[in-house]
Amino acid sequence: MKILIACEYSGTVREAFRANGHDAISCDLLPSDDGKPHHYQGDVFDIINNGWDMMIAHPPCTHLAVSGAAWFKYKVKEQAEALDFVRALMDAPIKKICIENPISVISTRIRKPDQIIHPWQFGHETTKATCLWLKNLDLLTPTNIVSKGERKVYASGKSSPMWHAKTGGGSGKLRSKTFQGIANAMAEQWDSLR
Ligand SMILES: C[S@@+](CC[C@H](N)C(=O)[O-])C[C@H]1O[C@@H](n2cnc3c(N)ncnc32)[C@H](O)[C@@H]1O
Repeated sequence: MKILIACEYSGTVREAFRANGHDAISCDLLPSDDGKPHHYQGDVFDIINNGWDMMIAHPPCTHLAVSGAAWFKYKVKEQAEALDFVRALMDAPIKKICIENPISVISTRIRKPDQIIHPWQFGHETTKATCLWLKNLDLLTPTNIVSKGERKVYASGKSSPMWHAKTGGGSGKLRSKTFQGIANAMAEQWDSLR
């Protein structure tokens, strides 16, 4: 399949699909962290009409995540733009779409997610509610249920106490990287054009 991993600089989901033989390309305004060539650095809407079979998108949550609700009143315009960005991704002319975000106003302003997953369902001992809005894709089945953990462990392998993570500790880049177990589950379970 021809797969666009939108808003991904880490290459985590892109490489999980490429390992299964797919033509997966990541796209982000940032350069790719892993230096691999299968990355478009630029606006996802430059390439969104290029005939993809599937798109998995990780749009920025800075103005959407409910963990930042105290600031919403100061960023009405930014939030409206962020929601328009998500709507445009959801409306892309692509058969299979997954939009991934934390608990956010997408649920109240656009629609409820189809599924909420956590890293501890996919082999990582940490809790991080991750919402999936799905089009023509099955719900993900947990692959390896482990302890929920007392520390927040990031996909990078670094960790911090849960209270620190919940109050926004750690760098944004550190916190936003997709967990390998979730990327692997997507690549294994969303493997066909059906
Ligand atoms: C929450 S992070 C997702 C990180 C991702 N989970 C990963 O492992 O790389 C959101 C990303 O969206 C990117 N982004 C924002 N606007 C974009 C656009 N118009 N086109 C492509 N990427 C964009 C940002 O640069 C940022 O890296």
